[in-house]
Amino acid sequence: MLSTWRISMAVKYRIEQFGAGNLSRRDFTPGPLQPDKVRVQIKAISLNYRDLLMIQGHYNPKMKLPVIPISDGAGVVTECGSQVTQFEKGDRVLTTMIPGWEKGLPEKGIHSSTLGGPADGCLSEVCDFYPRELLNIPANITFEQAATLPVAGLTAWNAIQKLPHKSGKSILLLGTGGVSLAALGIAKAHHMKVAITSSSNHKLERAQALGADCGLNYVDEVKWGQAIRSFFPDGCDLVVEVGGSGTFNQSVTACRLGGKIALIGVLAETGQRINLTKVLMSSIDVHGILVGSREQFKDYLRFVEQTGVTPTIGQQFEGIDQIANALELLQSGQHFGKIVISF
Ligand SMILES: NC(=O)c1ccc[n+]([C@@H]2O[C@H](COP(=O)([O-])OP(=O)(O)OC[C@H]3O[C@@H](n4cnc5c(N)ncnc54)[C@H](OP(=O)(O)O)[C@@H]3O)[C@@H](O)[C@H]2O)c1
Repeated sequence: MLSTWRISMAVKYRIEQFGAGNLSRRDFTPGPLQPDKVRVQIKAISLNYRDLLMIQGHYNPKMKLPVIPISDGAGVVTECGSQVTQFEKGDRVLTTMIPGWEKGLPEKGIHSSTLGGPADGCLSEVCDFYPRELLNIPANITFEQAATLPVAGLTAWNAIQKLPHKSGKSILLLGTGGVSLAALGIAKAHHMKVAITSSSNHKLERAQALGADCGLNYVDEVKWGQAIRSFFPDGCDLVVEVGGSGTFNQSVTACRLGGKIALIGVLAETGQRINLTKVLMSSIDVHGILVGSREQFKDYLRFVEQTGVTPTIGQQFEGIDQIANALELLQSGQHFGKIVISF
């Protein structure tokens, strides 16, 4: 266990060559802090599907190595460089995934600032960040909860922002992964009606215990896009689409006339032909979602502060050296909501 203020030795993991089994573990002594950086003792991280792809080399096989993976982290500021005015020692902070995107529309070049690849991420007990890579954690949540917000939480938040009027509206969530269960909490806080799909009846029961109004097993009910209409006869106002081409046509079927699809992920990418005619005949708005800007994150953090609603943590590991087990669980798809490692 590290003391909060005096850090002598710490552990970090780096991608030196791609492959989930190839993460390289290093002991290190943090050197002098650069004047424009903030030193953070990491207390918790959470995993995202992107982290797995990044480590495997599937996200960007040409990425320059070594890189410290993992975008999501939360911790305590132990030291600030002499030029830093935004934070002070003792602040509880979390990471912003795309720090180069302050507000408005995304601009060219922002991806080069993304934490967890190509910029260094959080799989290190001690990390030095630029101030723009951090925001303060709301006082009412834990480090573990905070570590679920930067990617899954913010992405779900932005998907739901596509509906200007939320109360009473219907939303369909695909699967019980990190983004979908983050969206479940946000949707219920806005008094929306929630349908959710899963490959597992047990996970559907857990989602219903968290507030989902109805559930469908997408393995048993292959035409779930039509089946969802037994709950919402006119179709859903918003579908949070995480599957990609393997689920998109069903999502279109599930959507009401003039409804919206927030296009987020490609978990079920099959190369299946998309029925574009149906999209236009139903006048569906398809919105591509890229996590979110720092400004959007600040809005989301205000919501978290007011409601205490954070993404569901389904499984928690203790200690940075649990990373291999945590990645294996993510890859298996057996998880429910977010996987967190506390340090
Ligand atoms: N655009 C962005 O900014 C952004 C941000 C975050 C994530 N993403 C992407 O969004 C996707 C979801 O991310 P995540 O973090 O929520 O992933 P995750 O936690 O790994 O979610 C995995 C779950 O997705 C469900 N799933 C898999 N195949 C499915 C299918 N064919 N139909 C319905 N559900 C299916 C499964 O749920 P069950 O076990 O219940 O069946 C699985 O457990 C990923 O592709 C990720 O890369 C994009």
